[in-house]
Amino acid sequence: MVLNEGSVTMKLLASVTTCLLVAAFTAVSVEAQENVLTRVAPSMLECYENAQIFERDNRLPMTMNMLIELIRKVEDSPGFQQDIRQLAISMLHRFRQDGIVRAPGVTSMSGVIPFSPTEFQFTKHRVLFSRLLPGNAVNFPNATLSLDERCALHFMLSNSIDRRVRGDENVRCSQLSQYRAARVPRELDFKGGSRFRTNYLGDNEMLAQPEMDRIREHIKKIKNKSASPARLEMDPDEEHLDENGEPEEVAVEEEPQEEPIEAAGEDEESPGEPLEEEDGSLVEIGDVSQVVDIASNAISACPVENGVVYTPWGSVMAGTVLAGIAAGLEPQTVQLRDLVSRSDQYRSRQVQPLRVDNRWAATLSGDLAEVTLLDAPSVGNNVQVGAAGAWNRTVAPRWYFLSQRERLQMTDTEIRAGIDGLLLATNIAEWRSRANNLRLSQLLDMYYSQRGVFNDTVRSCNRRDLFTTVAPMQQLRDQTVSFSTVLDKEMQMPFTITQDAIVNFADRATDALANYIPSALNDLSCEATAIVMNDPTVWRSASDLYIFVDAAWPHRDAYSVVSNILDSVDVGRFGTTYTILNARDGSVIVNTTQFLSDFHLTYTAQRHETLPTGLNIPNVFRRLREETNALMAAERRNNSLSGRSKIALVIVNTDRVSEGDTNFAIQHLQIFREEVPDLRFLYLAAGDPGRFNRFVREERRDVFPLRELESGSVVDTIRVQLSPVIRRIQEEPRRVVNPRCGHDWVQENWGSNSMNQFVEPRGVNFYRLHPNYFFQQGNNRRFRIQGHGFASLTVCHSRWVERPRQNTTENRDSIQCRQINTDAYDIDLSNACDGHSVIHTCPPLFVSVEGPPNPPTIIRCSEPECRFPDNARYAIVLDNMGCFSGAGRTVGTLLVAMMAALVSVLHFK
Ligand SMILES: *[C@@H]1O[C@H](CO)[C@@H](O)[C@H](O)[C@H]1NC(C)=O
Ligand SMILES: *[C@@H]1O[C@H](CO)[C@@H](O)[C@H](O)[C@H]1NC(C)=O
Ligand SMILES: *[C@@H]1O[C@H](CO)[C@@H](O)[C@H](O)[C@H]1NC(C)=O
Ligand SMILES: *[C@@H]1O[C@H](CO)[C@@H](O)[C@H](O)[C@H]1NC(C)=O
Ligand SMILES: *[C@@H]1O[C@H](CO)[C@@H](O)[C@H](O)[C@H]1NC(C)=O
Ligand SMILES: *[C@@H]1O[C@H](CO)[C@@H](O)[C@H](O)[C@H]1NC(C)=O
Ligand SMILES: *[C@@H]1O[C@H](CO)[C@@H](O)[C@H](O)[C@H]1NC(C)=O
Repeated sequence: MVLNEGSVTMKLLASVTTCLLVAAFTAVSVEAQENVLTRVAPSMLECYENAQIFERDNRLPMTMNMLIELIRKVEDSPGFQQDIRQLAISMLHRFRQDGIVRAPGVTSMSGVIPFSPTEFQFTKHRVLFSRLLPGNAVNFPNATLSLDERCALHFMLSNSIDRRVRGDENVRCSQLSQYRAARVPRELDFKGGSRFRTNYLGDNEMLAQPEMDRIREHIKKIKNKSASPARLEMDPDEEHLDENGEPEEVAVEEEPQEEPIEAAGEDEESPGEPLEEEDGSLVEIGDVSQVVDIASNAISACPVENGVVYTPWGSVMAGTVLAGIAAGLEPQTVQLRDLVSRSDQYRSRQVQPLRVDNRWAATLSGDLAEVTLLDAPSVGNNVQVGAAGAWNRTVAPRWYFLSQRERLQMTDTEIRAGIDGLLLATNIAEWRSRANNLRLSQLLDMYYSQRGVFNDTVRSCNRRDLFTTVAPMQQLRDQTVSFSTVLDKEMQMPFTITQDAIVNFADRATDALANYIPSALNDLSCEATAIVMNDPTVWRSASDLYIFVDAAWPHRDAYSVVSNILDSVDVGRFGTTYTILNARDGSVIVNTTQFLSDFHLTYTAQRHETLPTGLNIPNVFRRLREETNALMAAERRNNSLSGRSKIALVIVNTDRVSEGDTNFAIQHLQIFREEVPDLRFLYLAAGDPGRFNRFVREERRDVFPLRELESGSVVDTIRVQLSPVIRRIQEEPRRVVNPRCGHDWVQENWGSNSMNQFVEPRGVNFYRLHPNYFFQQGNNRRFRIQGHGFASLTVCHSRWVERPRQNTTENRDSIQCRQINTDAYDIDLSNACDGHSVIHTCPPLFVSVEGPPNPPTIIRCSEPECRFPDNARYAIVLDNMGCFSGAGRTVGTLLVAMMAALVSVLHFK
């Protein structure tokens, strides 16, 4: 394979021999590397040709969840064979092309696509992908992804800055400075007594003016209350950002050396052929955008940065993260003379020849080199790195605005991605030796989450603390000098700089970065984003979620609310499956799916406008009955024990339920109780949500207010409003069903059924088995958790505590726990409803399975069903469960006198 050949030979480059070198580059360049050509790569043109696709508001959200989903889709495509290294490389070559901007003043014309990679980012991109991360995308399974998805990947991975004036600058740019002033204190806010996090500010979202004012008030109050305001990051009345961004004066006052570079000893070694000659077609890259005319109106006061992906711990340049991973999997240390073409060779006689390490070049040093060459020469001592920015909405984010319009060589998103990429690059070899089949989606899923990669040390919320470890200053300096030297030969610049000046500027840029990261990178800490304070437990959801939306909510609100919920409940084949329906007529808007992208591509404003508004409970219930019947029939066909909770979430505007409908609803709820005992209704309603109390099992837990989004009390952002609902969904135990019952509760045979389940370190899964499966006496009836020896698991069960855990303090007496490994935990249910005359009074069985506090030494989970490599597999086995319900007898008949019939039937059982 060309890819392998390329990689092997590239490694040998460090210990050069000329002929090998030539061979390697010949091999590599035989394959078209279309993303390094000086035009928009042919395969990416599809994202620029069609206005609908290019329109940013139509794109898939730029979130890490979405990126992971798309990568997983590729990994799951039939017959897919690539390992993490091959996939990272081929994705970068297929989708990443930096520096693409629109040509100013060019109107659309047939045959002319007014985009080209002309911005400064492209030079580094070209050097990286032609020489330090060579490869191609010939085997990339393009057909797996739709056009929208392919272009989403392109826009997520390709960095450029759109400086064109949009016309919205008055609004956006002032919001941006407001946002900067209002960042919320990092820790202060979370020291309150509340067990659950109630405040989720600080997610760098621009807010509307009234909301900003409330947040300022809130901050003032916190400050007033606090005894130690030292941790406040931002004074609401001043902006510290610019000051902080300023590096301290660099001690070295040495001026750039004027002397000409010493002539080189040609005898030293025989350098490789200059790369440019291999590809004769390479032309100069016009880098006109370098010289920014600040006075010009043609430059937006808050330009849009492309290639940025939102995470709760700060937005990152996704292409840089991926390049770090790719470099870590194929590390190369290349001597400078091999990289710099013969004629331009760096000829200084240094004792240590400069070496470029692709892990550094692809991450921090790459961007620092741009600062070194493009910013430093014009500002002398005042070298700056960092440029803050914000999304105008972090739920389904698409527009990321920078707070400044110059000195954008190393923005905040690049700094974060640089640290992340370098961390991943540095550790990936070790991780991969522990987990052979580690997938790219798994790595990102672990790193950009509370759980971390294998343990909670390496995770994105820790990046600030890990920076000094992963990037020792001397190495950062050396690498920046090396790569700057390479880039200097490639970059079209307004300056001509000596090697000594490069060394000097690189030092300053490095110092500026080291000062900037601790002082100005105000991302949320791990503690601040913990789901439950001081509790390392990792919470995951696994649900069949039916979301009914009242289209009386404006599209923007409905879309944001649903996006936010879906983003937080582990949508995907390891977790939650969802269906979106209309609350008025019960029609399906988004078919049952495991992909976030389906919602974003389907639930458009146009679609929303066509939907009937309001709530009609009979329609909702009828529809839900069809859906749940179909699901239970499928469970019977598949012998599936489910393993997911079942939740109907009704999002209502101001509609009320009429008297007539109320009677219908209450009768129907009885049917649901019999037919689908584990279905839970949740209501999220404007106005007084109490009007839905009669339609839920537990009114204290299951109804939630949804206030008009731009009003209400302080810090009333959508995340704050929705966190109790999300929490509730996470808390709902997973169903365990006897698949032999189906939806009609007619049992034709008896026996055993089982399913495999997975739990990660620090994770816990909760299950509930309804008494409908063990109401009457039955021999050898048993619920078993069978360990598979992946790790030591803690299994608990209770009949009274919904989420039994070993170390809970409440109701300890009614919880039983034991550790299992390869053995089984059995719960006898042959006589478990003794003394109960109706099903409803007999309590369900609650079970929990908790992963170990630390990952097992041997990582074993390599099958496709493993979300993470350190998951532990176990089985749930049901033996001789029955089917007990009034449903089979009553529901088939008319609904008349439903209640009475039910009660009597149950009594006779
Ligand atoms: C996918 O598209 C790229 C770019 O057009 C192409 O190089 C590659 O061969 C395609 N992959 C397959 C499997 O056809
Ligand atoms: C802060 O506290 C002082 C007195 O302790 C009070 O006068 C002032 O109004 C308070 N400010 C706010 C914003 O609550
Ligand atoms: C974000 O800003 C862009 C550009 O002004 C605008 O088109 C878009 O509608 C805004 N999005 C939201 C959610 O306000
Ligand atoms: C966590 O993992 C990192 C990298 O794999 C390792 O260096 C560190 O020792 C681990 N920490 C703990 C507490 O196990
Ligand atoms: C849902 O799927 C069915 C077939 O499975 C299809 O006919 C229908 O058009 C889909 N509905 C939507 C809204 O996508
Ligand atoms: C049942 O199996 C079919 C095919 O094997 C699958 O498509 C479907 O998703 C399964 N349904 C459930 C509820 O697991
Ligand atoms: C419960 O606490 C004990 C002692 O603190 C600890 O060893 C054990 O791991 C904990 N169990 C779980 C499941 O967290």
